[in-house]
Amino acid sequence: MASESITVRVSLAERAYEIHIGSGTIDGGTILGERLGRVPHAIVIADSRIADSYASRVAHGLAGTADRVDTLVVPSGESSKCVAELNRLWNELLRLGAGRDACVVAVGGGVIGDLGGFAAASYARGIPFAQVPTTLLSQVDSSVGGKVGINLPGAKNMVGAFWQPRFVLIDTSTLATLPRREFIAGLAEVVKYGVALDAAFLDFLEANTGPLLDREPSVLRRVIARCCEWKAAIVAEDERETTGLRAVLNYGHTFGHAVESLTGYGEYLHGEAVAIGMRLAARLAAILGRIDSAFLDRQDRLLDALGLPRAARRLEPDAMLAAMRGDKKASRGRLRFVLPSRSGRAELVDGVTDDQARSVLG
Ligand code: NAD
Ligand code: GLY
Repeated sequence: MASESITVRVSLAERAYEIHIGSGTIDGGTILGERLGRVPHAIVIADSRIADSYASRVAHGLAGTADRVDTLVVPSGESSKCVAELNRLWNELLRLGAGRDACVVAVGGGVIGDLGGFAAASYARGIPFAQVPTTLLSQVDSSVGGKVGINLPGAKNMVGAFWQPRFVLIDTSTLATLPRREFIAGLAEVVKYGVALDAAFLDFLEANTGPLLDREPSVLRRVIARCCEWKAAIVAEDERETTGLRAVLNYGHTFGHAVESLTGYGEYLHGEAVAIGMRLAARLAAILGRIDSAFLDRQDRLLDALGLPRAARRLEPDAMLAAMRGDKKASRGRLRFVLPSRSGRAELVDGVTDDQARSVLG
């Protein structure tokens, strides 16, 4: 298969932008430089693990179109999505003399995109930013759609903004160095698109678990492009998650976020928690009679084949319920879940009782 690049457009009127999916594209800086145009000051916010590799290549490339390029390195890991690190970035931007015409370029996974994007959204009442995602999870989900923010100790992604990037540059060759556990965690968000939105895509994933796990370039490109197409279409229709459409992208996340916050944002990777959350949500959907056991087994088999975890260590059901009530999707303290109803279809469901939710947590 030829390795041409693919461009997906996020149609958001004056905030519209393109997602460019290709291989080897961070080198040379041409695509990023062209899309951002002449910039007086570019600030690369880089994950510490890839600061000397991908981020430094991005910074080098930007030197062709930016008058000045600086790099700020953020310690790798979910614990950096916190107010202390955000505060440090604000002060570093000030120290570097970043003005309203500066542009942040976030290079790394979802942690860097969310944190760097929120620094850009809030510094000087908002400066432009671009995303160069380097993990599978960030390439299929977090780099697109403008949700940026940080965690509070008791609630995931609780403080943030909608701040769309100017451009998203996806270089799939960066995935070659991604640790296997991280790669597999990203596959949870991929499965989410299939189960919740796209029955044909779910069939494709089931037929291609081997090539996917082997990171076969043509399969990866196709999968990343499909996920970005879905994300772009949904964000264009429901940018601020007000109609229930974008909420479908949170399939597995109500349980998953509770698992992450109760385990201190370190024991499970975000994608692993989402996989556990999708298994619990499907179980809840089966109890509510929305799906049959065959579909529940089907999702479990796919998640198993991809090496995603089966269950979290036992967490106190009452603590899980309390954490889920604090989720952004909860409405006036009532539990709300995104639940599947058939292959490629899920909806935001209100009015799930504590006992129903507890029955899948025991
Ligand atoms: P991450 O950013 O922590 O990256 C995972 C690990 O991979 C880190 O250790 C990082 O140093 C390393 N890494 C990054 N790129 C690499 C590469 N190419 N080679 C080797 N190592 C590399 O985690 P993630 O899974 O990318 O993102 C998870 C975060 O994304 C969570 O905080 C989650 O809440 C957020 N998220 C946000 C959205 C959104 O819409 N904004 C959507 C989904 C998830
Ligand atoms: N990852 C969920 C969303 O962007 O809405």
